[in-house]
Amino acid sequence: MPNDLTRRKLLGAASTGLLATRIARSAATDKPAILGGRPVRTAPFPSWPVIAENEERAWMKVLRSGKWNRLDGDNARQFEETWAAKLGAKHCLATANGTSALIISLNALGIGPGDEVIVPPYTFVATVNAVLIQHAMPVFVDTDPETSQIDARKIEAAITERTRCILPVHLGGSPADLDAILEIGRKHNIPVLEDACQAHLAEWRHRKVSTLGTLGCFSFQASKNLNSGEGGAILTNDSDLYRVCQSFHNNGRGDTGSGFGYVRNGANLRMTEFQAALLLEQLKRVEDQSHSREKNAAYLTKQLAEIPGIRPARMYDGATRNAYHLYIFRYDKTQFANLPRAQFLKALHAEGVPGSGGYTPLNKEPFLKHTFDSRAYRAIYPDKQLAAWTERNQCPANDKLCEEAVWFTQTMLLGPREDMDQIADAVRKIQRQAAALAVA
Ligand SMILES: Cc1ncc(COP(=O)(O)O)c(C=O)c1O
Repeated sequence: MPNDLTRRKLLGAASTGLLATRIARSAATDKPAILGGRPVRTAPFPSWPVIAENEERAWMKVLRSGKWNRLDGDNARQFEETWAAKLGAKHCLATANGTSALIISLNALGIGPGDEVIVPPYTFVATVNAVLIQHAMPVFVDTDPETSQIDARKIEAAITERTRCILPVHLGGSPADLDAILEIGRKHNIPVLEDACQAHLAEWRHRKVSTLGTLGCFSFQASKNLNSGEGGAILTNDSDLYRVCQSFHNNGRGDTGSGFGYVRNGANLRMTEFQAALLLEQLKRVEDQSHSREKNAAYLTKQLAEIPGIRPARMYDGATRNAYHLYIFRYDKTQFANLPRAQFLKALHAEGVPGSGGYTPLNKEPFLKHTFDSRAYRAIYPDKQLAAWTERNQCPANDKLCEEAVWFTQTMLLGPREDMDQIADAVRKIQRQAAALAVA
C-alpha cells in the first residue's frame, strides 16, 4: 500500500509537471505574434495575377502584329463574343474600364441632369462617380447588414417622380436581391443597371448576374477576378441599347466603326487589343479559380460562423453562385474583450492573415457636398432639393457595417484548404488572447 501511494504520488507529480510544461509551451505558441509570439502562418497567400506562357504569347502576338487598336485588330471582338456566350447575353461591349462601362450605360439610358439614380452606399466610389458625371443625383438606399448588399426592402420608399434608374451593386461578388429589385423596376417602369464589376460568374437563380437587368457592367481592373490591368464590359440583351453604347464609346460613330461619320456625341472609351488578348487568356482559368474560391469560402464560413462574434455575410436565397471577389464578415468586438477592429486587424496581420476594414460610408463623403455646391449642380437642382439631400440620404445600418466589417481579398481563397484552417486558427487565437491584446 505505501508503495502504491508513493507510485501514485510520483506519477501524479510527473504528470502535473508534464501538464505544466505543456501549458507553458502552448502559452508560448499562443502568444499573439503582435506581442512577439510565433505567427500562425508565415507563407504568403497566392499572388495575383496569374501569369503564364499563354499570356506572354498572346501579348507578343498583338505587339508584333502592330494592330494595337480594336479598329484594326480582332481580339476585342473575339473577347466580346466569348464573354457574351459565357454569360448567356445577346451582346457584350468591351470598354476601357468598369467606370466607363457605367458611364456609357447611363448615357445610353438617357440619364442626365435632374434625374435621380438609386445607389448603395456600400460600394466603390466609381458607382457614384458615374452618376455624378452625368450631373444626375445619387440617392443612397441603406445596406442590408446581413448581406452587405443594397437593402431592396428600402428601395421603393426612395423612388420619386425623378427616379430614372436603379443601380444595384453585387458587392464582393455576392448577388444583390435581384428578385425584389427587378420587380420594383418593372412595377415603376425604371431600368435596372447591374454593377457587376466585382461579380464575374456570379449567378442569380442559375443565371449570370449582369444579364438580368436592362444592362450590366464589369470591371477587369488589376484586382478583379478577371483581370487585364484595366478593362470593362457592358452586357445587354437589348439590341437598340447595345448599338447606342457601341456608338457612344466610339466617339459617336455609326455602325461603320472607323472614319468620320458621327450619329451622336460620344467619347473614346474603347478597349485596346492588348487588354482583350490578356482577357482571352485569363478566361481559360476563370472557372477553375472561381470554383476554388467557392469551395474555400464555404469551408471558411463553416469555421468562422462557429466563432462567437464573427458573422460571415449571408447570401440571399436566390444567389446560386457567389464570385467571392471579397470575403466579408462582421466583427463584434464585445466578443473579443472590446478589442477595437483596428487592433484586431493589426493582430490578424501579424499572424500572417492580412484583412482590411473595407469601405467608409460613401453617402457621407465630403466630396459629394462639394459637388452639389458646384455651379453646375446649383444651376440644375433647386436649393430646397440640395438642402434636403443629406437628411434624405442617411444610411444608419451602413454606418454600423462600415465600423464592423472585415474583408479578405479573393486571392486568399485561391490556395489549399489548409490556408482556410490557418485563417480560422488566427481568428480563434486572437479571441483567446483578446484581453491581453486589449491592454497591450
Ligand atoms: C463596384 C465597382 N464599381 C465600379 C468599379 C469601377 O471599375 P474600374 O476600376 O475598372 O473603372 C469598380 C472597380 O474598381 C467596382 O468595384
